[in-house]
Amino acid sequence: MSHKKHKKVVLFASGSGSNVQKICEYFQNHQIIKVTHLYCNSSKARVLEKAKAFGIDYTLFNKAELLDSDKVLENLLKTRPDLIVLAGFLLKIPKKITEKFSNKIINIHPALLPKFGGRGMFGINIHKAVIDKKEKRTGISIHYVNEKYDQGANIFQKEISVKESDTPQTLSKRVLKIEHEYFSKTIEKILNGGK
Ligand code: GRF
Repeated sequence: MSHKKHKKVVLFASGSGSNVQKICEYFQNHQIIKVTHLYCNSSKARVLEKAKAFGIDYTLFNKAELLDSDKVLENLLKTRPDLIVLAGFLLKIPKKITEKFSNKIINIHPALLPKFGGRGMFGINIHKAVIDKKEKRTGISIHYVNEKYDQGANIFQKEISVKESDTPQTLSKRVLKIEHEYFSKTIEKILNGGK
């Protein structure tokens, strides 16, 4: 009898959840890796529907519960995930969680960190800033999460070129497409012991 132990991935997301959708699809019939839980800070987030469609349990919490209570931390300690994946999660993960799960939390950012990271750099703002600065290249960064915003070690980056004709919207679409292409593969590599 084979008793392969699954590796558990839990997701944190606040938004529309296109990355969550792709990750759930990718690991749906995976031999080793299972997406077991979604943590979400908005009862209206579209990501909830996506997780429900895959039968994934979720925990809702608000900002105060994340920062001032141990609700999320205790839940995570019980779940014992092998990897915590922030897939479009807008709140900062508090230190009490990052220190308990050091090197076990990753995030995806739609720019080439350390450029275009930090406060205010989310969503369309990032792509606006990239175009304003006349950058020739942009892309995605998948990185470890520590208590400093967007400053954990990089795990993977993929570059694309910025075209003369790009608007923040067209750029955002092309960047999101490469997120979808590489995020799940990178999660798989990390959990398989690769980089
Ligand atoms: C992505 O661009 C991701 O890089 C950023 O938030 C966005 C989430 O999009 N952290 P979605 O909710 O997965 O569609």
